[in-house]
Amino acid sequence: MSTLVVLGAQWGDEGKGKVTDYLSEKADVVVRYQGGDNAGHTVEIEDKKYKLHLIPSGIFYEEKTSIIGNGVVVNPKSLLKEIQYLNGLGVKTDNLRISQRAHIIFPYHLKLDELEEIKRGKNKIGTTVKGIGPCYKDKVERSGIRICDMFYADYFEERLRSNIKAKNEIIEKLYNSEPLNEDDIVKEYLRYAEELKPYVTNTTALVNKSVKSGKKVLFEGAQGTLLDIDYGTYPYLTSSHPISGGVAIGSGISPFDLKKALGVVKAYTTRVGKGPFPTELFDDTGDWIRDRGFEYGTTTGRARRCGWLDTVMLKYSCDINGFTGIALTKLDTLADLEEIKICTKYRLKDGFIEDFPASLNLLAECHPVYETLPGWKLEEITGAKTYEELPLNARKYIERIEELVGVKIQLVSIGPKRSETIIREEIF
Ligand code: GDP
Ligand code: IMO
Ligand code: MG
Repeated sequence: MSTLVVLGAQWGDEGKGKVTDYLSEKADVVVRYQGGDNAGHTVEIEDKKYKLHLIPSGIFYEEKTSIIGNGVVVNPKSLLKEIQYLNGLGVKTDNLRISQRAHIIFPYHLKLDELEEIKRGKNKIGTTVKGIGPCYKDKVERSGIRICDMFYADYFEERLRSNIKAKNEIIEKLYNSEPLNEDDIVKEYLRYAEELKPYVTNTTALVNKSVKSGKKVLFEGAQGTLLDIDYGTYPYLTSSHPISGGVAIGSGISPFDLKKALGVVKAYTTRVGKGPFPTELFDDTGDWIRDRGFEYGTTTGRARRCGWLDTVMLKYSCDINGFTGIALTKLDTLADLEEIKICTKYRLKDGFIEDFPASLNLLAECHPVYETLPGWKLEEITGAKTYEELPLNARKYIERIEELVGVKIQLVSIGPKRSETIIREEIF
C-alpha cells in the first residue's frame, strides 16, 4: 500500500502545488480531499505557469487519475472555467473524476460570504469570498445539495428553489440586500449538471480500489494546518480539515490506509487574511521577503503578510499531522539576507511557552524568542542539484530546523520549477 498526503504545515501557500506536481510523476492517482476554489496552487513547468484552484496538481500527468473528493466544496462555474483554461493550454482533463458526494457552492453562498464579512466589520476574517464557509455551514446543517443530487432534475430543482427562497429571506431581511433570481440560478445549474456529468463518479470506491490494488495514491491538501477548523487560529481560518486527519473524511479511505504525510513548510512564514501571526515582520525585512518571494495571493492577489519561521507552530503542526517528512520550499527567497531568524519559543509576561496556544488572547500576548543564523548568497544556491551543493549556511539552517522540530527534511525546493528540487530521502 502506497499512500501519501502532501499538505500545508503553516497558513497555506507553502508550495503544495509545486511539490504535488513534482511527486505526481510517481503517483497513479492524485486526490484533493477538502477546501474549494479558495485554494490557489501554482505549478511551473518549463516556461509555463499554471494556476489551479479545484483540480489536483497531478493533472499535468494526463494519463493519471485526478480526483476531486467528497470533502471538497465544488463551485461548478469555477470548475468548468478551470477545465476550459487547462484544455485551452493543451492540458487534457479526461481523467478527472468528481465525487458524487461533494457539496455544491451556489451563488447564495458567495453572496452570504460577502455579506457576513461586511457584517463582521473590524472582526472580519478576510475570507476569499468564494462561498466556502457558507457552503460547509449548509453541509453541517444538512441543507446542502450534493453533486449526485444534480442528476435527479426534479428533486434538485425543488431543493434548490427551497434553499434560494430561504437564503433570499436572509439576504433581504437581515442584510437589506438584493435577492437572487431563482429561475436564473436553476437554469444555470441544470446546465452545469449536463456539463459536469461525464466527470462524476463514485470516487470513494475508485480511491479504495486504487489503494487496495497497490496503486500509488497521493492526496493533495489545500490551505494549511493553522487554517484547519479545529486546530487553526479559530475563528481566523477556513471551514474544512486540511490536516492529515481530513484525508479519510474527505476521500473515503480508512485512516489506517494513509501511510505517509509530507508537511510542506515554507522557509519563512506567510499568511493572507486576518488573524494572529506571532513572527510577523512589520519592518523592511518583511517587505523585502514579500518582494523577493513575490508573496501575493494566487486566488485573490492580496499581499501576503510575511515573517520568520516559527518552530513553535511547526512542532504543533508535526504533532497533529504525524509528518513522516518535510518539504522545505522557497529557500532561495531568503538568499542574500545577512541573518535569518528562527522562532524557538514564545515569551509571556511571566515565563515561556513552547506549546502553541489555543486562545487568541493568549497568542496575542506571546512574543517570539529568536535564534539567529547566518545567511547565504543567491548565486551560491542557484543551480544546486544535490544537498551537498547547497551553501553551508543553508544546510545549517535546514539541519537546525530538523533538530528543532524532530522531522527529516526530505525535499528542499530552491525555485518554482520541477528542476529546482533537491531530494534528500525517498518520499513516495
Ligand atoms: P500553494 O497554495 O501551497 O500551492 O502555494 P502557492 O502556489 O499559492 O504559492 C507558492 C508560490 O511559490 C508559487 O508562486 C510557486 O510557484 C512558488 N514556489 C514554490 N516553491 C518555490 C521555491 O522553492 N522557490 C521559489 N522562489 N518559489 C517557489
Ligand atoms: P492554498 O491552498 C492561504 C484563508 C483566507 C482567510 C481564511 C478563510 O492556496 O494554500 P475562506 O475563503 O477559506 O473562508 O477564507 O483562509 N485562505 C487561504 N490562505 N492559502 C489558501 O489556500 C487559503 N484558502 C483560504 O485568506 O484568511
Ligand atoms: Mg496558494
